[in-house]
Amino acid sequence: MIRINTPCFFALCTDRTEKECIEKGLFGDKEWRLLHLKSVKKGDVGFLLNITQDQLLGIFVAESEAQLDIDPKAWSGNFRAQIRVKLIDKLQRVEEASKKLEKIIGLRPIKRAQFPYRVPESNTYGPDITDKILLLFKTTDKVTAYFKIAQPEEIGSSPEYRFEDVAGLDKVKHFIYQRVLAPFEDEQKAYELRLRIGGGILLFGPPGTGKTLIAMAIAKHIQAKFIDISPSVIIGYPGEAERRIENIFASLDKEPRAVVFLDEAEWVLCKREEQTSSVMQRITPVLLAQLSRIFKRKEKPIIVIAATNKPAMIDTAFLRPGRFDRIFYIGLPDRDARSEIIKIHLKNRVNELDDDQISEIAEKLEGYSGADIENIIEDAAFNAFERRKNGNIKITKDDIISSVERMSKSVTSDEVKQIERWAEERGIET
Ligand SMILES: Nc1ncnc2c1ncn2[C@@H]1O[C@H](COP(=O)(O)OP(=O)(O)OP(=O)(O)O)[C@@H](O)[C@H]1O
Ligand SMILES: [Mg+2]
Repeated sequence: MIRINTPCFFALCTDRTEKECIEKGLFGDKEWRLLHLKSVKKGDVGFLLNITQDQLLGIFVAESEAQLDIDPKAWSGNFRAQIRVKLIDKLQRVEEASKKLEKIIGLRPIKRAQFPYRVPESNTYGPDITDKILLLFKTTDKVTAYFKIAQPEEIGSSPEYRFEDVAGLDKVKHFIYQRVLAPFEDEQKAYELRLRIGGGILLFGPPGTGKTLIAMAIAKHIQAKFIDISPSVIIGYPGEAERRIENIFASLDKEPRAVVFLDEAEWVLCKREEQTSSVMQRITPVLLAQLSRIFKRKEKPIIVIAATNKPAMIDTAFLRPGRFDRIFYIGLPDRDARSEIIKIHLKNRVNELDDDQISEIAEKLEGYSGADIENIIEDAAFNAFERRKNGNIKITKDDIISSVERMSKSVTSDEVKQIERWAEERGIET
C-alpha cells in the first residue's frame, strides 16, 4: 500500500477541454464549485477525469489554492474556479475510470445531452482515498518520492453504519437528512441559497438509544472520517491529553470533510464553575478553543456532533447560533422500532422466531432502550446455548422472554421525563 498521507482532488474535463488543462497546467470548474474546492491546499494530489473517454489522468499536484480567474481567458472564461497544477512524471491514463473509481469512492450521475456519465460525489478526498486511487496508475515511484512518504498518526475511522441500521426515529432521521445531509448532495443549490454545510449538532436523549449510531451514520453518508474526541477517549489514551487534542485537530486539516464526535458532551459543555473534575478543568479549554476554531472556519464542511443524556447540565451559551444550534431528541424506541432492533440483533443468529412473535415481544419491551434490547438478545442466545448437549440451539421466543424477565430497564421513566421536560422548555420536539 502506498502511504503519502496527502489529500486529493478531482477536476473534470472533456475531449474538448483536456488539452488546455494539460498544456496550461490549470484545472477549472464552475464558479460555484469554488466553495467546495477551497479545501484544496497547495501540495495536494490532483486527478483529471476525462468524461468523454472515461479516463483518469494523472498524476498532478496542486501548485496553488483554488481561486477565481487565475487565467481569466482559460476555457473562454467558462470555468472561473481554477487551480494551478503540475504534472509529476509523465502523463498516465487509467481506462474505464468510473468503474474503477466506483470501488473506491461514491459516484453520482451527471446529466449530459449526449451521454450519461458518473463522476465523484465530491471534489476532494482524504489521504486514505488518495492512496487507493494512486494504485490505479502504472507507476507511482516519482510520486512517492515527491511526497517522501510520511507516516504520521492515523486519525479517525471510516464507519460502516448506515441510516438503515438505525431503527425507528424516522422523524429525526428525516430532519437530520434535510438539515445536515441534503446540502452535501445538491451542492450547487445549497450554494445558491448559501446554506450552511457543516457546523454543530447536539443529539440528546436517554442512554442506549442510538446517538452514537446516528453520528456514525452521518459520517458514513457524507463519506467522512469519524473522529472521536469524547473525554473518555482523550483521557484514556496514553500520553498528554492536551497534546493529543492538538494533534487530532491539526490532522483534520488533511481531511476535506469530517465528523467530529463529542460524546458525554455535558463534561465539556457545562458551565465552567460546575466543572468538578480536575482533568476536565485542564482539557476543556483546549477542546473548546479547537471547536470554536472549527465553527469559525466556513470553507470546510466539518460536522461536530455532541451527544449527551444530561442536557440540563449543558450551558445554554453553547447552543446559540453558530455553535451547537441544531438540536435533535433521540428518544426510546417505539414498538415498531423495537421490533426492528430485535430483528437486527437476531439476523445473524440461528433462531426460530416469526414476525408475530417478534411483535409480541416488542410489545412487552415498552421503556427498554435499543442497548437493553441488544443485551436481551445476547442473553437469550446464552439461554439457547445451554441446550447444546441435547437439543435445538435455535433461539426461541421463550429464550427471549426469560431474558426479558431477568433484565430490567436501564432507563427510568423519571430520567426520560426529565430529559423531555428540558426539550419542551426549549420548544424541541420529542
Ligand atoms: N435505534 C436503534 N437502532 C438500532 N440499534 C440500536 C438503536 N438504539 C440502540 N441500538 C443498539 O444499542 C447499542 C447502543 O447504541 P448507541 O451506542 O448508539 O447508544 P447511545 O444513544 O449513544 O447511548 P449512550 O448515551 O449510552 O452513549 C447499539 O450498538 C445498537 O446495537
Ligand atoms: Mg453513545
